[in-house]
Amino acid sequence: MRKNIVAGNWKMNNDLAQTEALITALKNQTTSSNAEVMVAPTFTNLFQAYQALKTSNIEVIAQNMHFAENGAYTGEISASMLKSIGVNTVILGHSERREYFNETDELLAKKTDAALAKGIRVIFCFGEELADRKSGNEETIVGNQIKNALFHLEAAAFQNIVLAYEPVWAIGTGETASPEQAQDMHAFIRKTLADKYGNDVADEVSILYGGSVKPANAEEIFSKPDVDGGLIGGAALNAEDFFAIVNAF
Ligand code: G3P
Repeated sequence: MRKNIVAGNWKMNNDLAQTEALITALKNQTTSSNAEVMVAPTFTNLFQAYQALKTSNIEVIAQNMHFAENGAYTGEISASMLKSIGVNTVILGHSERREYFNETDELLAKKTDAALAKGIRVIFCFGEELADRKSGNEETIVGNQIKNALFHLEAAAFQNIVLAYEPVWAIGTGETASPEQAQDMHAFIRKTLADKYGNDVADEVSILYGGSVKPANAEEIFSKPDVDGGLIGGAALNAEDFFAIVNAF
């Protein structure tokens, strides 16, 4: 079901004490926003974060998972392990994992299948590189990322999928896509879904924007008709800034 969502991707930041301090600061924030609020700590702090936030309106989510149920995958974790600590949403396909860990569309299709099979909601990330945008290929790149990893799924699967468009050139750079650029791409994404599954499915999928969302630009970006919220990196590490973005709705 389409909802407004603001999710904080903490990436590889915050040890246990820093996690506890940020969670305390987050719990002290107030909001009248209608947005679903989520935070994604690192694996070492997930259970602590879940325990600290389980009675709050902030959902604790994971930054990644493996497609296997268990086995000889040193350093990895499974969908069942996430479920066992109360985590029911996972970020998949982030550009940093595509770049640094060579995560392909094929691998991400397997990870998505594994998450959905365990009833875990997927925040599926994709986005073009700067060179793709400069050459006018951004829609081809994004369309292929979505089709190659997700279009094997039945329509019903999209009830448990959130899409996150993150232009790689805007991540961590301070170079935010303009609200118009975000809207144009989100509209293209929604049409791509509609062409495959119909408007009823496409109109119910939340599409988040990620890439240098800050308190100063969140309201204008979120005001666009096909933008349903944001996947926040740097600004999520400060409770006041993160809730300033949540309150942009
Ligand atoms: O997953 C969200 C992240 O990639 C965006 O990072 O720091 O540009 O908000 P940032």
